[in-house]
Amino acid sequence: MGDRWAQWLLERRFGGSPDYQRQLMAFLHPIRDRVLDGAAPRPGETVLDVGCGDGLLGFAVLDRTSPTGRVIFSDVSTELLDQCRQAAEAAGVTDRCEFVQAALPHLDGVGDACVDVVVLRSVLIYVADKQAAFRHLHRVLRPGGRLSLFEPINAFGYPEPAGWLWGFDVSGLEALAERVHAAYRAHHGDPCPMLGFDERDLLAWAERAGFQDVRLDYEAEVASRHPAAATELSTFLRSAPNPLVPTFGELLIEALPPGDRQLLTRRIEEQLVTGRGRMRRAVSYLTGHVS
Ligand SMILES: C[S@@+](CC[C@H](N)C(=O)[O-])C[C@H]1O[C@@H](n2cnc3c(N)ncnc32)[C@H](O)[C@@H]1O
Repeated sequence: MGDRWAQWLLERRFGGSPDYQRQLMAFLHPIRDRVLDGAAPRPGETVLDVGCGDGLLGFAVLDRTSPTGRVIFSDVSTELLDQCRQAAEAAGVTDRCEFVQAALPHLDGVGDACVDVVVLRSVLIYVADKQAAFRHLHRVLRPGGRLSLFEPINAFGYPEPAGWLWGFDVSGLEALAERVHAAYRAHHGDPCPMLGFDERDLLAWAERAGFQDVRLDYEAEVASRHPAAATELSTFLRSAPNPLVPTFGELLIEALPPGDRQLLTRRIEEQLVTGRGRMRRAVSYLTGHVS
């Protein structure tokens, strides 16, 4: 069911576990709030949520801009737009919503200078031509309009050093881990839009697109606790790290015969139970406005 974006956002990122879903959403809520703080949408304004997914940002914007603010939910996925429409109907807020299928970089279907605020989270990372995307984010904003976005900087943590797989120490099993990494890479596409850029590129693209007072906050961490710590192995294996690749379990099946898989999964399970691991993670928050 569903296109790959809907499948991942609604199911595969959670591995079918309501507990894991709660854990991930608790991690995302402060990110959502910080993006909204950066945009500071006000009642009466029109806000475009680009790559809205199932509405993490857009519905929070409706709360903050009640009773007169409007949100244009836009996404490449019609299934996710349907999901947002149903949620808006259930919440009784459809009169303040619009649903537009539109894809970055061009955002065809969204007019010039028609919104006060643009928000987005983790969308540019999937777009090949990010400079063009910034130009069109600028195009749709009215004079004085504001942009606030969040993007992960995956190039900080990837590729992992030898002996590491998905944040787990698999030393001694390097050859097996490399075959799994190769299977993962094969799903990315080459060049992979999720890699090959960093926070400096984001800043430069925003500036070149014409945004004023561009501010970028960059956060990097090397964490010793795995983000999936205390998750059941079966949940972890049913989850996928992003919409472009299969689940961790499917990747293991693609890459390895059963005996080798068992060696790796045993090692992963030990570390899930204890919470050990090492994750190199970097993220960026960017704001700017149109003069
Ligand atoms: C990681 S999800 C983020 C969803 C939402 N922004 C959130 O914060 O939960 C990425 C979203 O970007 C959408 N997307 C992917 N490629 C896109 C493109 N080229 N233009 C617009 N949306 C896109 C996907 O359908 C998906 O909803």
